This record gives sequence, C-alpha cells and structure tokens, in this order.
Amino acid sequence: MIEAIDLWKSFGDNHVLRGVSLRVAPGTTYVVLGGSGSGKTVLLKHVIGLLKPDRGSVRVGDAEISALEGRALTEARRSFGMVFQGAALFDSMTVLENVAFPLREKRRDVRLDEVRRRVVEKLAVVDLGEEVLDRYPAELSGGMRKRVALARALVSDPRVVLYDEPTTGLDPLTTDSVDQMIMAAKQRLGITSMVISHDVASAFKVADRLAVLYDGRLAAEGTPAQVRASTDPFVQRFLSTWFAKQ
Ligand SMILES: Nc1ncnc2c1ncn2[C@@H]1O[C@H](COP(=O)(O)OP(=O)(O)O)[C@@H](O)[C@H]1O
Ligand SMILES: [Mg+2]
Repeated sequence: MIEAIDLWKSFGDNHVLRGVSLRVAPGTTYVVLGGSGSGKTVLLKHVIGLLKPDRGSVRVGDAEISALEGRALTEARRSFGMVFQGAALFDSMTVLENVAFPLREKRRDVRLDEVRRRVVEKLAVVDLGEEVLDRYPAELSGGMRKRVALARALVSDPRVVLYDEPTTGLDPLTTDSVDQMIMAAKQRLGITSMVISHDVASAFKVADRLAVLYDGRLAAEGTPAQVRASTDPFVQRFLSTWFAKQ
C-alpha cells in the first residue's frame, strides 16, 4: 500500500535520508522508530508528497506520490488521513464541527443529516458516543481529544492513516488509549497505518512491522521479534532503555 524505494534527502550538508526503503502492506501497521532529529517527520513528509526526494520514489496505492504536483497531488492525498503531533482540533468548534470539517471542506453540498451520520459512525470506531457531539475540545480529556482527531482523520474514509508522534508527551493512560485506537482503526476498518514515534513501548504494542531510523538509514527492519533480535549496536542501545525496565 505504501512503498518507499531508496529515498535520499539532504538539506545543504545535512544528509537526513541516505537510502531508506520500506514497504507497508495493506491493512497493517508500520512503525518507524528513531531519536529526535533522526528524520522521522522528513520521511513522513515524503509519503504525503510535502517533500520531494533528491533520489528514490514513493508510491501510495496506485499513485506515485514523489512524481505528482499540484492538483494531482492534492487529489492523491485525499486517500490519506493524518493525525499530527498534538491533536490540533479547532477550539471554537464543537466535536461535530471538528470531525465534519474535512467533509464540509471537500463538498459544501453534503446534507447535514448525512454529515452527522458519518461523524457518529466514525466516533463509534474510536469508542465515543453521540453525547460528545456538542462539546468543545476544552471540555474533553486529552485522550478524548486524540480520539476526536482520529475520527476526523477517518471521516473521509481514507485507506491510509499517518500518525506523527501520536503518543509524545502523553501520560501512560492516554498513551494506552491512543495505542488502542490505532489498533481499532486497523481491526474495524482495515486501515493501513504508518506511525512515526520514539516511543518504544507503543511501537512494539501496535506494530505489525517496524523500523529503526538512524543516521539516515534503517538500522533494523522487520517484525517486532526480528527488530528485537537485531544485533545492530545502535538498535540494541535504543531498545535497551525500554526493555531493561520490563
Ligand atoms: N524543511 C527543512 N529544511 C531544512 N532542514 C530540515 C527541514 N526539515 C527538517 N530538517 C532537518 O532534518 C533533520 C530531521 O528532522 P525531522 O525529520 O523533523 O526529525 P524527527 O525525527 O525529530 O521528526 C533535522 O536536522 C532538521 O533540522
Ligand atoms: Mg518529528
């Protein structure tokens, strides 16, 4: 569903990606782990076509994202849902208005009862009921805001959802609820997900496959068990801080 082939990207002398290849199968969750500044967001921006590689290519579904521009790129991006760092809901809008936003933005003529039906349907996927529809983000817990943000990403029925650091800065309970919701999107809707994270615990919980990005390359790549067994010194150090606690 997502395929990156030999991606290279530099900003001046800063060689951020130096030959990254990965493949995310339909209906699976792929996590890219890496330290801060390792190039995780840069990689994600290539997947959505916000950055163009110096070399290599990115394909999502049938679209060669790295080769598209303008309207064609905007069109191709419609099949993505994005959950950015920090839930970034509109504070002055209710939950209904927030989740409905992508629908209203795309087509102004969608009927209100149809909009409401689709919002309620996606809220149910993230285990929220109709009672939250008229609430404002400030009236919700951190975990609920994250759920609303995912419902908004799901409302246009994307095939692919991309998450940038979805659990960074969250307390353990909220982190767990975000992990559950990523798994629910996969199990209930068959969503293909790519998650960018430095949270080792979450990564090993939600990933079907994962990769560790270091020094512009994937220092390890595979199933959680394969990555856990990697003999790469950086991967060992990166994972040991968390596994030592278990
Ligand atoms: N648009 C840009 N222009 C120049 N440098 C950038 C740009 N975006 C990211 N970088 C650099 O690329 C490196 C990786 O950044 P990023 O992908 O944001 O890291 P992270 O893994 O924390 O998400 C950093 O050194 C950052 O300064
Ligand atoms: Mg980042």
